[in-house]
Amino acid sequence: HELIQARLRDQLLIVVANREPYIHRYVGDVVECIQPASGMASALDPMMLACGGTWVGHGSGDADRLTVDAHDRIRVPPDSPRYTLRRVWLSKEQEEGYYHGVANSGLWPLCHVAFTRPIFDSRHWQTYREVNELFADAVLQEAGDRPAFVFIQDYHFGLLPRILKRRNPELTVAQFWHIPWPNPETFRALPWKEELLDGLLGNDLLGFHLGYHCQNFLETVDRNLEARTDREQSEVVRGGHATRIRAFPISIDFERHSAAAAGPEVEREMARWRHRLKLDGKLLGLGIERIDYTKGIPERLRAIDHLLENHPEFRGRLVYAQCGVPSRGHIRAYQQLDDEIDDLVEGINWKWGNGSWRPICYEKRHSNPAEMTALHRLASFCVVSSLHDGMNLVAKEFVASRVDEDGVLVLSRFTGAARELTDALLINPFSVEELSGAMHEALTMPRDERGRRMRRMREVVAENNVYRWAGKIVSTLLRLDPDDVPP
Ligand code: G6P
Repeated sequence: HELIQARLRDQLLIVVANREPYIHRYVGDVVECIQPASGMASALDPMMLACGGTWVGHGSGDADRLTVDAHDRIRVPPDSPRYTLRRVWLSKEQEEGYYHGVANSGLWPLCHVAFTRPIFDSRHWQTYREVNELFADAVLQEAGDRPAFVFIQDYHFGLLPRILKRRNPELTVAQFWHIPWPNPETFRALPWKEELLDGLLGNDLLGFHLGYHCQNFLETVDRNLEARTDREQSEVVRGGHATRIRAFPISIDFERHSAAAAGPEVEREMARWRHRLKLDGKLLGLGIERIDYTKGIPERLRAIDHLLENHPEFRGRLVYAQCGVPSRGHIRAYQQLDDEIDDLVEGINWKWGNGSWRPICYEKRHSNPAEMTALHRLASFCVVSSLHDGMNLVAKEFVASRVDEDGVLVLSRFTGAARELTDALLINPFSVEELSGAMHEALTMPRDERGRRMRRMREVVAENNVYRWAGKIVSTLLRLDPDDVPP
């Protein structure tokens, strides 16, 4: 991170992301501060802790307004402040149209192959424009006259780069798109495709997780817009301005995560879980994610059912813990998924439960980082069965937690992480048999093979950590050699 700071020199770093990294909310009468379940937020927070700067995000907690100053700013993390969080307030209508509407009912299903239809509504698009302008106001205010590097996150802000460049051409603007970019046939369903593409081409640099997503983006621009695309240089020139398109696979702060996993707080949580899950020598399978239809949660529960059906020796011996963080609950597709998971858990527990043993323990709530890391450490296997996922950082967090070099990762081939974590058991999540077969293989894998695979995966994540990711982005932006970033 010293290298990132050196390369940024005197520029102010401004991160823009819809989701804020620290949320204040009421629990009864008490205000508590939580970190959200967001791969994006957990990846960007370490970079901000290291480099300082300002994070502009949506103030979404019901106690958020209580904690800010007169300029809507708060220093975070609250107990050892390292950077500034500038909160932007949205009305209910704005949240509905921009967040639930365009971002999560439109662009999210459009970009993920999970067979959920995107919904487009021109009133929502109007709100999306309005909210992108609102964030531009906040960014420009934060930057003032200083040279600034604005680093935009994700699909909530497709129009923001163009607005910023129009209002202040001196700004350096980059964006990272944390979800997949679809092929041009899929993308043509978006009614405002030219406007979105033009917005994104306001960036000096646009990053995706995979080279494949970059190719899809270049092809989409080629088919839809008046612009010159240079495949060799991976660059688009529109109206005399060049946007470089590059792949940067995101990661986590491996060392911080590993150190926490070996610490006393996690040990205490492990003891709590052993008691709560009545483990008592039983084997533990694990899944942790937001309740989202891209994550393949029903597929995985069916695979547990299949496993118990075909391998009776695991009845009474295996507990599968599913942590599901409630997410985007105003959207119908999410409500339906929530019901489907409840029904499956209920049905499978009823079918196989015996005495005090239930095969599935479903924790539908927000869990804190130490609780999740403790579960990682206890699990014989962790399943990430996303139907489609840009990267998936749960997979990398599980690996970082396994300081004992044990535990098996069962990982969907359709995640970005599968390109790097080739020592996981890679599966097609649409096949219940394959998924259940991999769980069985994980449960019966010899200790030395588990160790070999986990060691190699730990090397991969340690080497390509989140600082390297950020360092490469900043270096590319400054036209320095991105590979000249030490590990
Ligand atoms: C994905 C997106 C993030 C988002 C996260 C959680 O990882 O790429 O931008 O923050 O999901 O979703 P939420 O809607 O709760 O922010």
